[in-house]
Amino acid sequence: MDEVYRVIQEDIQTIIEELCEFKGKITDKTFLVTGGAGFLGSWFCDILNVFGARVICLDNLSSGSKKNIKHLTKNKNFKFINADVCSFNTHEKIDYIAHLASIASPPLYQKFPVQTLDANVIGTRNMLELARRNDIKSFLFTSTSEIYGNPPDEAIPTPESYYGYVNPYGQRSMYDEGKRAAESYCYSYFIKYNLPIRIARIFNTYGPRLDIKSTSQYGRVIIKFIYQALNNKPITVYGDGKQTRSFCYITDQMEGLFKLFMTPKINGEVVNIGNSEEISILRLARKVKKLTKSNSKITFQPLPPDDPRRRCPDLTKAKKLLNFKPKVSLQKGLKRMIDWQKRIR
Ligand SMILES: NC(=O)c1ccc[n+]([C@@H]2O[C@H](COP(=O)([O-])OP(=O)(O)OC[C@H]3O[C@@H](n4cnc5c(N)ncnc54)[C@H](O)[C@@H]3O)[C@@H](O)[C@H]2O)c1
Repeated sequence: MDEVYRVIQEDIQTIIEELCEFKGKITDKTFLVTGGAGFLGSWFCDILNVFGARVICLDNLSSGSKKNIKHLTKNKNFKFINADVCSFNTHEKIDYIAHLASIASPPLYQKFPVQTLDANVIGTRNMLELARRNDIKSFLFTSTSEIYGNPPDEAIPTPESYYGYVNPYGQRSMYDEGKRAAESYCYSYFIKYNLPIRIARIFNTYGPRLDIKSTSQYGRVIIKFIYQALNNKPITVYGDGKQTRSFCYITDQMEGLFKLFMTPKINGEVVNIGNSEEISILRLARKVKKLTKSNSKITFQPLPPDDPRRRCPDLTKAKKLLNFKPKVSLQKGLKRMIDWQKRIR
């Protein structure tokens, strides 16, 4: 096993230990994972593979990469289909759908605004119809903290009951409003057809396979800062750096997502999944510089429009419903990410 894959293997093992109660529901079942060649999707495929599921990985490779799933392709229980989620159909019997397909990095969705909206709106409807025809056991939709837009301080940490403050006509709207419309489609199929949907509002997540060289990842701040610091390039902070984010390590994110996907009797629920350790972007830049022992200078660039001022999840519901509590501190996760980046350089 190569050194790069060893880091992922260790993290998969951590996740599997947390999820072993669900093994019986996963083994020998057929899962469709849309966006399965992307960052989160490929971790999904890995975990399902270890649990002995049959996996159909659907991806049009618009931001994902075959590199993320190459190690799975020899497995007879794993099938990769290069297709668009908006038009994909199959007569194969499917038990579960995890619908992740969507470009997720801001510069990329701004470059492909129509495709981003389509994947979330038309693609979600198409997957919900497929789910209905298959009488599936659970449908997980990966929404985002971006549906909250730019919440005021009173709504930090942000609970699921906060409706959002979102610009419908602007640089982020193709993503934010696409996800909001998709949530509404999920809700409509839940009340109209009793479809077993679950919605995860994912807050910023990082971990191995976030790679600056992969097109989908540019614009994602942790990996950008680590790359800049390790290469002694300027660490570029937007605005004054006082805006905050809360970062969740991949092992915690996967535990939360699978618990939401698999826990019985929680159909129709919407749950924040993330880590509530809030940090300003400037402090993050300083932290990365220190951990990498870098000589990089921290420089400042104009803040893009509609950049959220604060991001922090209220995880009360996740704790109550799923017994979910993130375990990996930012310090620990960053050290692991830096270790990973050094190995793949
Ligand atoms: N990573 C995060 O921090 C984060 C935060 C909030 C929400 N999310 C959501 O989680 C999901 C996965 O995000 P990610 O970080 O893995 O992003 P990613 O870009 O790495 O993965 C998305 C995958 O979807 C595929 N895709 C896009 N449009 C498609 C289409 N029309 N048909 C088929 N495949 C298509 C891409 O090729 C890619 O492999 C997305 O829905 C994203 O909105 C992620």
